Amino acid sequence: MSHYSDIKENISLHPFNTFHIESKARYYTAISNLAQFRELIASGILLENTMLLLGGGSNLLFTGNYKGTVVHFLNKGIEIISRSEDTILIKAAAGENWHEFVSYCVNEGFGGIENLSLIPGNVGSSPIQNIGAYGVEVKDSLHSLESIDLVSGELSTFSREECRFGYRDSIFKSELKGKKAIWSVTFELSLKPVVHIEYGAIKDELAAMGIQSPGIADVSRAVCAIRKSKLPDPKLLGNAGSFFKNPTVDHKFADKLLEAFPKMVSYPLGDEHLKLAAGWLIEQCGWKGFREGDAGVHENQALVLVNYGNAKGSDILTLAHRIQNSVYERFGVKLEMEVNVI
Ligand code: FAD
Ligand code: EPU
Repeated sequence: MSHYSDIKENISLHPFNTFHIESKARYYTAISNLAQFRELIASGILLENTMLLLGGGSNLLFTGNYKGTVVHFLNKGIEIISRSEDTILIKAAAGENWHEFVSYCVNEGFGGIENLSLIPGNVGSSPIQNIGAYGVEVKDSLHSLESIDLVSGELSTFSREECRFGYRDSIFKSELKGKKAIWSVTFELSLKPVVHIEYGAIKDELAAMGIQSPGIADVSRAVCAIRKSKLPDPKLLGNAGSFFKNPTVDHKFADKLLEAFPKMVSYPLGDEHLKLAAGWLIEQCGWKGFREGDAGVHENQALVLVNYGNAKGSDILTLAHRIQNSVYERFGVKLEMEVNVI
């Protein structure tokens, strides 16, 4: 191994994953500035071992000890790049906490990401799976991002189009996985925000709060209230949000299913496809509230798998496979995992 000194061995990853799974990293290093990251790349350590880029650890499931190098992004900084009459370009470092960044923007009156309040994790991971909630995705406000090539250490800029965003998807999950790290993300936010409250639950929540003409701070508060009522707080109960993606099917397939299951929850997706609510499919198979040992299915949200304390990653993964099998047997639908299994 070469001269890079800021590296630790046999580090517990328990504090760094919201599933609270016990796992050890063979090597671990925290990165807070570009020079340090380039030194790490130049040392060749990343080429000698497999590597895992780590943010807030809220979309990961460790199924054993990690035999390679965990590279933890802790670089900080929020910078206003430019401002016009209507919009602002604002750049945030990968290691900034996502919700803190959203709160900062909401407090400053910069609109566009308020519906994404309270999503765990860091800014640098937000484009990886194009985080989304309550009718909005990060791609809607993302202007560009800076990435670092993990071999040469060169910085390059990706436009929104170049990120090839899809539902819970981007180029960084496929072609560029293991090749580029995201260093910073620039957002184009509105100084004359228009709120997005089409998503049913937001309207109901705002009505319950007695708010008639909501601003972005109201929307943020409403989203936080809905999320707190539905999703387990990882500080109290280990989880990584939705374990599976909502599956996409074509109309022909959906029509057949709807004939057999008229109450099935689905949403139109363009002209040709529909998205099915995976939570509904899983609940219908009887899994909601299921627990075996410390691995379980959340009692309020069947799409969220939970660790009641001492579950191993492999216990959660076994449960996930059982759920996939039973949903396939009953509905003929394949559930794809959203969480990154390591
Ligand atoms: P990590 O878990 O650390 O990493 C996720 C992936 O990104 C890994 O593959 C990792 O290698 C890679 N990665 C991390 N940092 C970098 C980097 N700098 N460069 C390149 N690759 C990197 N997601 C939603 O979309 N919508 C939701 O509503 C939502 N709700 C959630 C609720 C709860 C309670 C929880 C626990 C999770 C939820 N999630 C949701 C999932 C999760 O919050 C997001 O996927 C988030 O973006 C993950 O960020 P992170 O920093 O924790 O990423
Ligand atoms: N449903 C059930 N049973 C359940 C759970 C859900 O019948 O146990 C039904 C609900 O009644 C509702 C529908 O399924 O009719 C959708 O449920 P919900 O609004 O809770 O959203 P979701 O589809 O389960 C998605 C995202 C979440 C995001 C919310 C809000 C995915 C995989 N998940 O969940 O994102 O916060 O919508 O926009 O797209 C994440 O990705 O980690 C995540 C939490």
